Amino acid sequence: MSKADIIVGIQWGDEGKGKIVDKLCENYDFVCRSAGGHNAGHTIWVNGIRYALHLMPSGVLHPRCINIIGNGVVVSPEVLIAEMAQFENLKGRLYISDRAHLNLKHHSLMDIAKEKLKGKNAIGTTGKGIGPSYADKINRTGHRIGELLEPQRLCEALIKDFQTNKAFFEMLEIAIPSAEEMLDDLKRFSEILSPFITDTTRILWKALDEDKRVLLEGAQGSMLDIDHGTYPYVTSSSTVSAGALTGLGLNPKEVRSIIGIVKAYVTRVGNGAFPTEDKGEDGERIMQIGKEIGVSTGRKRRCGWFDAVAAKYTARLNGLDALSLMKLDVLDGFEKVKICYAYEYKGMQIDYMPSDLENVKPIYEELDGWDKVFGIKDYDLLPENAKKYILRLEELVGVKIKYISTSPERDDTIIL
Ligand code: IMP
Repeated sequence: MSKADIIVGIQWGDEGKGKIVDKLCENYDFVCRSAGGHNAGHTIWVNGIRYALHLMPSGVLHPRCINIIGNGVVVSPEVLIAEMAQFENLKGRLYISDRAHLNLKHHSLMDIAKEKLKGKNAIGTTGKGIGPSYADKINRTGHRIGELLEPQRLCEALIKDFQTNKAFFEMLEIAIPSAEEMLDDLKRFSEILSPFITDTTRILWKALDEDKRVLLEGAQGSMLDIDHGTYPYVTSSSTVSAGALTGLGLNPKEVRSIIGIVKAYVTRVGNGAFPTEDKGEDGERIMQIGKEIGVSTGRKRRCGWFDAVAAKYTARLNGLDALSLMKLDVLDGFEKVKICYAYEYKGMQIDYMPSDLENVKPIYEELDGWDKVFGIKDYDLLPENAKKYILRLEELVGVKIKYISTSPERDDTIIL
């Protein structure tokens, strides 16, 4: 019997998971998404072609891989269908859990309307209806993908929900779809998606029993976790390794290894605490060189220096066996590079993460920069200062770095 490997982002998302998952996919039979929805955006470059995936697991770019969308995901049928249209022959290569929850148009309208009402206290969500879909799930008023198999019945249930919450939708000025419109949409979703809807937990159990190689691909990042992130400026799902298990129906004994993905600097989209944010020239330069603009939303990401306190915290939360250091090349040409190794908090120096992260100030150490690591595939060829930076990160986070990415291309990766 085999065991699964997990890949998780350990910052605020956008760590470059897509590239490393894509690189690793050639070694796996199954690649699985366990949480989040189309708020996620993975960019993968293959032979100079850019692929942007939102809901589809990254294994879709490898013809041999079977892709699973697990029960923990909230699925927009509209977005998934559009994404599926980019690929041929998905039959037998894509399975969607019948327990995954539906994310429909009204969820996104609610998300946008509620953010607007919050004004300057807005979370800065992606506006994709992720919070409202998960709220429905937790309130036990949501609908699951399996219900798409009977569109007429689902339509009746949804229309009833709309009627029950009529005043609420009116208050938010959200137009409720007519039963006819709703049914047309649901029938279309059902026709296209039904062949892919199934009990994915059983598929995965069978896969592990048959010694298949299984990869669980995390979405978002650990600092956006509903419990452990910078609440309330977080997403609505469990983004840590433990969440990957509940999101697919696996148990902790079925895990072999957990790899954390971390960028050589930090970015964050949306509002909330970000101690090492650099609002000056350096942050702007990182944003430009790193092309730090959201795949899902087109928003510019906030940028800053590596936060080793946060990384150490999320390394422990996830139980990491190894790290994959992404986008090291973005720091090429900086005369000095900074690492936050501690925080100033209530007049003290601390090296742990308090729950009120907005009240800390970063304490930095400065290292000499390097000229160029771009495209280097061999560790020995890295400039000495880049090696010193890598070793210092390893030391502060307390986890071995196993992969180093030196360009967006699939093959520009050092494996240690
Ligand atoms: P939501 O997930 O759309 O509700 O957004 C909640 C917070 O999570 C916002 O700050 C978003 O910018 C952030 N977020 C959600 N998904 C991602 C992602 O894939 N990468 C980075 N940030 C994300």
